[in-house]
Amino acid sequence: MEATAWPGVWRDGRELYTENLRPGHRVYGEELREVGGVEYRHWDPFRSKLAALLLRGAARAPWDGATSVLYLGGAHGTTVSHLSDLLPEADLFVVEKSPVAFAPLLELSRLRPNVLPILADAQLPERYAADVGSVDLIYQDVAQRGQARIFLENADATLRRGGRGLLMLKVRSVTQTRAPRAIVDEARHELAGRGRPVVAQTDLAPFSRQHVALEVGPRPAPSVQR
Ligand SMILES: C[S@@+](CC[C@H](N)C(=O)[O-])C[C@H]1O[C@@H](n2cnc3c(N)ncnc32)[C@H](O)[C@@H]1O
Repeated sequence: MEATAWPGVWRDGRELYTENLRPGHRVYGEELREVGGVEYRHWDPFRSKLAALLLRGAARAPWDGATSVLYLGGAHGTTVSHLSDLLPEADLFVVEKSPVAFAPLLELSRLRPNVLPILADAQLPERYAADVGSVDLIYQDVAQRGQARIFLENADATLRRGGRGLLMLKVRSVTQTRAPRAIVDEARHELAGRGRPVVAQTDLAPFSRQHVALEVGPRPAPSVQR
């Protein structure tokens, strides 16, 4: 097992691993491996877009230095569980609107105290912003219409000054007839127009052919009037 440039991520050949915060427990049927008395969990890039982003060459770890994260669209907690391994001391607020997906997320939070699930619609951040407070990173993977708008509203409500975002933008679906490039351009334009520039764009193929990762940089400081 070799350390990588992304803090907390290990690799064996092309396979990525995180150190299991709850040894002996699997979250999604992943391989567990013990090396030198430490248990690692395989991080599947076909199941987690964050692992896909790393393997597609992310220069920096988006979670680096975060003490508080707002995660929109937690589903059953696959990616959440790896962030939980990577940020054992952080607060991970995880918003999920489907009660069916929320049940396993709640179960996950019983084993992992840094996972704080919220049953809510990410289109209504005013319902949970006071509980979440100010976060260093917003991770969004909601696969629904208005993805840039949802990000912006959550960022305005919770992202601290200098905070960052990672938007897993869905660009292909059976009901979507527009070109992926047009969807990306429109989202980038909407984000930049509200002072949230995209600093990196990564196509997640072959791991996900439906998504492009947009890393949203800190808001530029307001210019000083003289
Ligand atoms: C592609 S899945 C997320 C997968 C997850 N991020 C992972 O990597 O493990 C999308 C999730 O977003 C949820 N979702 C969709 N729209 C939402 C909204 N408006 N608010 C909260 N969750 C939403 C869906 O219920 C679904 O569980």
